[in-house]
Amino acid sequence: MNAAEDRLSKSDPAPDVLFSAGQIAARVDALADEIAFHPHLKNAGSGPGSILAVCALRGAFVFAADLVRALSSRGIDPEVAFLQVESYGAGTRPSQPVRLVRDLEVGIGDRPVLLMDDILDTGNTLEFLTRHLDDRGARTVTSAVLLDKAARREISVEADFVGFDCPDHFVVGYGMDAGGRYRGLPYVGTLPGVRA
Ligand code: IMP
Ligand code: MG
Repeated sequence: MNAAEDRLSKSDPAPDVLFSAGQIAARVDALADEIAFHPHLKNAGSGPGSILAVCALRGAFVFAADLVRALSSRGIDPEVAFLQVESYGAGTRPSQPVRLVRDLEVGIGDRPVLLMDDILDTGNTLEFLTRHLDDRGARTVTSAVLLDKAARREISVEADFVGFDCPDHFVVGYGMDAGGRYRGLPYVGTLPGVRA
């Protein structure tokens, strides 16, 4: 446990550490190595005409920030864009069909897209977003998720890149929330007593 995790553990309630800040940093770095050599992305060049890196708000904003910086140090400098979907409401289970609440503010224009999301869970969000980006004209859609909860899949969809296989628990931190809390935690944790 590092100093930040130790400080947080003294406040109430303290999520239990599932993936530490150090583990996440090392894994994001390794993911950037893999992504930089993906055939859809490796020769795309840099800047606005090249790759479009799309962050699915809100939960993926920390993962996306770390991943694009790791990519930058490997010579990949994508344009970054955001969209937002919702299916959870305030609960810990998807309570409604996935809906787009904020669309991209830039055109895709036949570019390869790197889609970044926090968790692949039932699969509905990734399937929805991949279809949406395809419909908007993406040349290719390559997906990277920090966590994969394979046990909860409802439809057959996989990410191209996965940070960690995640047990069937509701998780918070590193961008992810429970009812609006915990997004700023530097680690991924579980809330005692809360099941996925
Ligand atoms: P899916 O559509 O069921 O695959 O869910 C994907 C989305 O649900 C993710 O992008 C997250 O925003 C959210 N989600 C799923 N599981 C969790 C969790 O354990 N904690 C926080 N958000 C979650
Ligand atoms: Mg999400």
